[in-house]
Amino acid sequence: MTSIDAGPFGALRVAPSILAADFGSLASAVREIDAETDWLHVDVMDGHFVPNVSIGPPVVKSLRQYSARFFDCHLMMSEPGRYLEAFRAAGADGCTVHVEVGSTATLIDEAHSMGLRVGLAANPDTPFSKVAPFLGDIDLLLFMTVFPGFGGQSFIGDVMGKVNEARREVDANELALDIEVDGGIDLETAPIAVDAGANVLVAGSAIFNRPDPLEAAHELRVAARSARS
Ligand code: DX5
Ligand code: ZN
Repeated sequence: MTSIDAGPFGALRVAPSILAADFGSLASAVREIDAETDWLHVDVMDGHFVPNVSIGPPVVKSLRQYSARFFDCHLMMSEPGRYLEAFRAAGADGCTVHVEVGSTATLIDEAHSMGLRVGLAANPDTPFSKVAPFLGDIDLLLFMTVFPGFGGQSFIGDVMGKVNEARREVDANELALDIEVDGGIDLETAPIAVDAGANVLVAGSAIFNRPDPLEAAHELRVAARSARS
C-alpha cells in the first residue's frame, strides 16, 4: 500500500538521488537534505541491466526509519518483477521499471495491484513511441538524460525532444502523469528540462557533491522555478 502521498501530479519536485551520497552515512545524508526533498530517488542497479550494482530492499527498509518522504525507486534491473514486492515491503512508495526490459503491461499491473505508484523509464536512445502506449496506465514517465549505470555523467540535451513530446501528449489528454528527468541535472540543465516539460528533477552529484547539499538542493529548486515562471 502506498504509505506516503506523492503530491499532486505535475507539481515541480526535487528528487535527490542518494547514489551520490556517502553510503557510509546515508541516514544523516538523507536527514540533512530533508527540508528540500520532495521525493527521495533510490537508484537500484542489478549488475545486469546496467554494468553496476548499488542498493537493494534492505537499504530502503533502513532508510524508511529516517525519512517520511516519498521513496521513488528506480529499478535498473532486467527482472524487476521478481523484486517489486520486496521493495514495497521495504517501504518503497513508487517503483519505476524500464520499458527496455519488456513485459511492461504485466509489470505495471503487478506494481499497481500492490499499491505502488508506477513509473516507466526510457533510456536516451529509446524512442517515445515505445512508452507512448502506456501513458494512460502509469503515474510517472522517466526520461533518462544519461545512459543509466553511473552518477556524474553529462546531460544529453537531445532527450528534451522526447520530454516535449510527452508533455504535449500529457497536457492535451489531461493525463495524471509526472514527467521526470534523471542524469546530469544541475543548475544549468534543470531549467532546460523544466522548459521542455519535466516536473520532477532527479539530481545526485549536483546535490551531494556540493559542500552544502541542502543549499544545493534549494538552489536547484529556485533554478527550476525560474524556468516555470
Ligand atoms: C543513473 C541514475 C541517476 C544518477 C543521477 O543511472 O539513474 O539517478 O544517479 O546522478 P547525477 O545527478 O550525478 O547524474
Ligand atoms: Zn535514477
